[in-house]
Amino acid sequence: MKRIKKAIIPAAGLGTRFLPATKTVPKEMLTIVDAPIILYVVEEAIKAGIEDIVLVAGRGKHAIEDFFDTSYELEDRLAKDGKSHLLEKLTRIRDMANIISIRQKQALGLGHAILTAQPIVGQEPFAVLLGDEITMETKGSENVTSLLCRSFDDTGVSAVSIMKVEDSEVSKYGIADVSEIKPGFFRVNDLVEKPKVSEAPSRWALPGRYAFDSHIMTLLKDAKPSLNGEIQLTDSMRLLCREKGLNAMTFSSKRFDAGDKLGYLQANVELGLQNPELGESLKQYLLQLCSELGKG
Ligand code: G1P
Repeated sequence: MKRIKKAIIPAAGLGTRFLPATKTVPKEMLTIVDAPIILYVVEEAIKAGIEDIVLVAGRGKHAIEDFFDTSYELEDRLAKDGKSHLLEKLTRIRDMANIISIRQKQALGLGHAILTAQPIVGQEPFAVLLGDEITMETKGSENVTSLLCRSFDDTGVSAVSIMKVEDSEVSKYGIADVSEIKPGFFRVNDLVEKPKVSEAPSRWALPGRYAFDSHIMTLLKDAKPSLNGEIQLTDSMRLLCREKGLNAMTFSSKRFDAGDKLGYLQANVELGLQNPELGESLKQYLLQLCSELGKG
């Protein structure tokens, strides 16, 4: 059985939720503490044992490719100035992964973005990590992509992550109808993309982490546009569910929608608190701020 060694990161969206910041800067390059969102996503994939990362980018996303490339002048300058700790940070990023970039030439939806990577993944299973979502592991736990890949590698069945959401959030996500097999592990019976609360089969939402059998590509090839005129990944996942089965897993990591303004700020605060250089000062600042707000 083939193991998952490749991951697709769709990063072709226009980032309209973050205008004007994203007029010239791709949303995946917005900074969380001291690194762009995309670096956290790539690091999650690498930690899960992924070797090749297929970045599905759109127009104006050169900055993402450049970020993972060599910056000869900068590296030379840092070496000459003896700034070895900074130089190491940069070389680590450039050597981190084999990044293969491909263009999605039309914004036809998430399903279409993933299909764009088909010539690169071929007949192999692969993980998908949405490029604007960040997960933060809790101590001693496995990251979400690693959990999903391990589940696929052990069973040969595709797997998705699921999380419970409030009624007000249901219409933002793909929602799964699931049956629990054992604690934290479910079989998916059906899926609905962004339903109204009244039509949702559950409150189990799909955040952007998946591990797929290559058969999903065959299904995506035949997929027709649906919700919002886009090729929805969820439609092909429904078929995958029936034809090959689909597992779902809960996770202990914290997840941030960094493509959303509030999620972005939350990610900055929480990852800032974990930062060895900043954590303590940020904590003191937040405690002081909370006490001031309490008095107000
Ligand atoms: C996409 C998927 C949806 C999923 C969500 C996670 O929607 O279509 O099923 O729940 O990502 O963030 P989007 O947020 O791209 O509209």
